[in-house]
Amino acid sequence: MRKRYLAPLVLSVLFFAACGGGEKKTENADSVSTHEESPAADNSMVSPSASKPVSKGETLMAQSDCKTCHKEEMKVVGPALKDIAGKYPNTPENVDKLADKVIKGGSGNWGEVAMLPHPQISKDDAKEMVSYILSIGK
Ligand code: HEC
Repeated sequence: MRKRYLAPLVLSVLFFAACGGGEKKTENADSVSTHEESPAADNSMVSPSASKPVSKGETLMAQSDCKTCHKEEMKVVGPALKDIAGKYPNTPENVDKLADKVIKGGSGNWGEVAMLPHPQISKDDAKEMVSYILSIGK
C-alpha cells in the first residue's frame, strides 16, 4: 500500500528537482560565458608577475612571523628591512652571519629590543630570507 502511494510522489519530486536544476545550470552557463568575454581576465594574468616577481626569501618571510616585527620601509619592533640592507653589504659572509642571528635571535645591534630566536627555520631558508633583505633597494 505505502509504496504505491509514495512512488508517484517521489517521481514527481524528482521531476521538479531535475527541472529546477536544469534551469539553474543554463542560467549559470550564460553568465559565465559573458564574463569570460571581458578583457579584464588578460590584465589579471599579466600584472602581478610582470611588475613584482616574488623571491623565495620574500615568500618564506611572508610565511613566517617576520612581518609582525619587520616592514620593508619602516621600523616596527625590529629595524626596517631597507635599513638592514643599508647597514650590511650583500656578501656571503654577511648572509651567513645574519642567517645565524635569525635562527638564534639577536640583540644590541639596533637597540634594546631583542629578536626572538627562530630554531624551526633551516639555515638554508634563513639565508634565502637574508639574501632577500640585503637585496632591497640595491
Ligand atoms: C619579535 C619581533 C621580531 C620578529 C618576529 C623577527 N624579528 Fe628580526 N629583528 C627584531 C629586532 C628587535 C631586531 C634588532 C636586534 C638587534 O638589535 O640586534 C631584529 C633584527 C633582524 C636582523 C638584523 C640583525 C643584525 O644583527 O643586525 C635581521 C636580518 C632580521 N631581524 C631578520 C628577521 C627575519 C628573517 C625574521 C623572520 C624569520 C625576523 N627577523 C623576525 C625583531 C624581530
